[in-house]
Amino acid sequence: MESMETYRRFLKAYWWDERDKVDTDQKQHIPPPPPQKPCAPGTVRIDLAAPEELTVGTMPLGEAMQRRKSHRAFTQESLTLEELAFLLWATQGVREIVAGGRGTRRIVPSAGARHPFETYLAVERVAGLEPGLYRYLPMEHQLCLLHTGSGLAEKVGCACRDQAFIGQGAVVFIWTVIPYRAEWRYLMVAPKMIALDAGHLCQNLYLASEAIGAGTCAVGAYRQDQMDALLGVDGQEEFVIYIAPVGRVTVNASAA
Ligand SMILES: Cc1cc2nc3c(=O)[nH]c(=O)nc-3n(C[C@H](O)[C@H](O)[C@H](O)COP(=O)(O)O)c2cc1C
Repeated sequence: MESMETYRRFLKAYWWDERDKVDTDQKQHIPPPPPQKPCAPGTVRIDLAAPEELTVGTMPLGEAMQRRKSHRAFTQESLTLEELAFLLWATQGVREIVAGGRGTRRIVPSAGARHPFETYLAVERVAGLEPGLYRYLPMEHQLCLLHTGSGLAEKVGCACRDQAFIGQGAVVFIWTVIPYRAEWRYLMVAPKMIALDAGHLCQNLYLASEAIGAGTCAVGAYRQDQMDALLGVDGQEEFVIYIAPVGRVTVNASAA
């Protein structure tokens, strides 16, 4: 095993000096990678309620913060598609497309506005959506359907080192990272920036879930290869980084 110091270096700021000595792709004027993974032609897309049309999630912020906790028990109730649209907007919603489509400003912050994540959903119980695997398209505020079939949340639970509660979720958020989006600007500083960025997504998911009478739990313990295989990502240029099941919680559970 490497020494702990090797791992701790990742958290420190020394890499900035190294990065300043080399030419990043950005400094070499190489165009940035697209801010969103393309969707295969002919893929089924589902429109989501526009942010300004949302009627859910009106709980005062202070109350949502007060209620926030990790939930590991969910009811069998479904979420509505509008609620899911709210959760997606809260975590990765785009407020502005900039630089002629090469960049985005979003609801969450991201170092250098690189926004290196993709959001996959293992849908089990969302009214109006067939169970299956979907991906969020933040720039169009749409879902694209990757494949249908129930039981995916349970498989995610198994891949999360057998954390069975994940299988009870109405929907499981699975975030992948495309590291090059951050490396283009940050090179060796990118891993730290990516890890910091990921926290923003999940914290907003916690607060937005509470605001709709649902709950979530951040999940960082999973088997990398199994999760990457479940999504069909290559594990090199794109891989799973964070997971969070969402489901309705009983009033007592959320108030406890
Ligand atoms: C990065 C991260 C990874 C986590 N991974 C797991 C996990 O794999 N399984 C789990 O049950 N909880 C996980 N949690 C939830 C924490 O255990 C939880 O936040 C902590 O116990 C504090 O409880 P609270 O969120 O209710 O305040 C994780 C939380 C974070 C922030």
